[in-house]
Amino acid sequence: MRKNKLKKKILFSAIQPTGFVTLANYLGVLKHWKYIQKDYNCIFCVADLHSLTKHDNNFNLRKITLDTLAFYLACGVDPKKSIIFVQSNVDEHCKINWILNCFSYFGELSRMTQFKEKSRNNRNINMGLLNYPILMMSDILLYNSNYVFIGDDQKQHLELTKVVANRFNKYYGKTFTIPKNIMFKQGSRIMSLHDPKIKMSKSDKNNKNSIFLLDKKIEIYKKIKFATTDSESPSKILYDIIKKPGISNLLNIFSILSGKTILQLEKLFYNYNYSMFKEELSKLICKKLYNLQKRYFYFRKNENYLLKISRIGAKVASTKAKNMMNIIEKKIFL
Ligand code: TYM
Repeated sequence: MRKNKLKKKILFSAIQPTGFVTLANYLGVLKHWKYIQKDYNCIFCVADLHSLTKHDNNFNLRKITLDTLAFYLACGVDPKKSIIFVQSNVDEHCKINWILNCFSYFGELSRMTQFKEKSRNNRNINMGLLNYPILMMSDILLYNSNYVFIGDDQKQHLELTKVVANRFNKYYGKTFTIPKNIMFKQGSRIMSLHDPKIKMSKSDKNNKNSIFLLDKKIEIYKKIKFATTDSESPSKILYDIIKKPGISNLLNIFSILSGKTILQLEKLFYNYNYSMFKEELSKLICKKLYNLQKRYFYFRKNENYLLKISRIGAKVASTKAKNMMNIIEKKIFL
């Protein structure tokens, strides 16, 4: 049993607590965490330092961090099987960050799509926004992660992680493990409800674009009802990402939640119009979220338990992070 644990590869994944967790985060990564715990030594982090890049008046980081932790547990992450911790509780993330800063180039960072999007129309771009991918690579490289579980939007950051890790390894000899990504093709890019050309995001200012895991039944029905569908005629329930991006996104969500293939769904809904299909989708989302919300509230009301598991997780993570920092520092410093 112990031997088996040792043989497992290390997998890192994280969510930044900047708002309510969305259905996209759930379908992209969270939903799968419960199952991958069997096959990997998993490290699940609440990336609260990343959230500081966003300054919001109503921002209550401490609260949202606890909310996010409760979601991890509600989705079946088991603290006995995996390490669950809050990023700011392990000092080494900031320490390694400086070193990796010095191996990353301004040009590389300013080319990141997410940086360009977030800094557009923003006159006060804080340095954290530019540094964001370096903090992310700090998380990944500090734990010798073999795999990183992400949605499509984080792929570019992982590619940069590999570049910088290789650059460091070239200078100082093999130090960092070069991570690979794990991504489930189908859920890795869930699109916005109103504009299916952009991704669904928890930091979207228009909250009608996203389904949040804590949305009430009435909100879910309303959001799906007003989700953009396509004027493409005939108004059939067919998957066509170019001509029918709206309905394709909804079909994708239906498929992941129901376990049915797109082809099966196209047949099933052959005689449905958009509004009948949307009604079925709303029903399905509500059913899936009902149980999840019940489990969430069960964990969320016990803050002491959430704090306890995050402290235990931080202790284990700290030991690993300190070991790695020792290796790095011995290579560079006196
Ligand atoms: P975050 O909090 O934006 O998103 C958490 C995870 O959800 C995925 N995701 C999506 N998947 C499918 N469709 C979407 N529309 C969608 N939007 C988001 C993200 O790809 C992510 O996997 N920087 C990261 C958090 C982070 C991290 C890390 C991740 C910090 N350190 C180290 C991996 C490894 C972020 O902001 O994710």
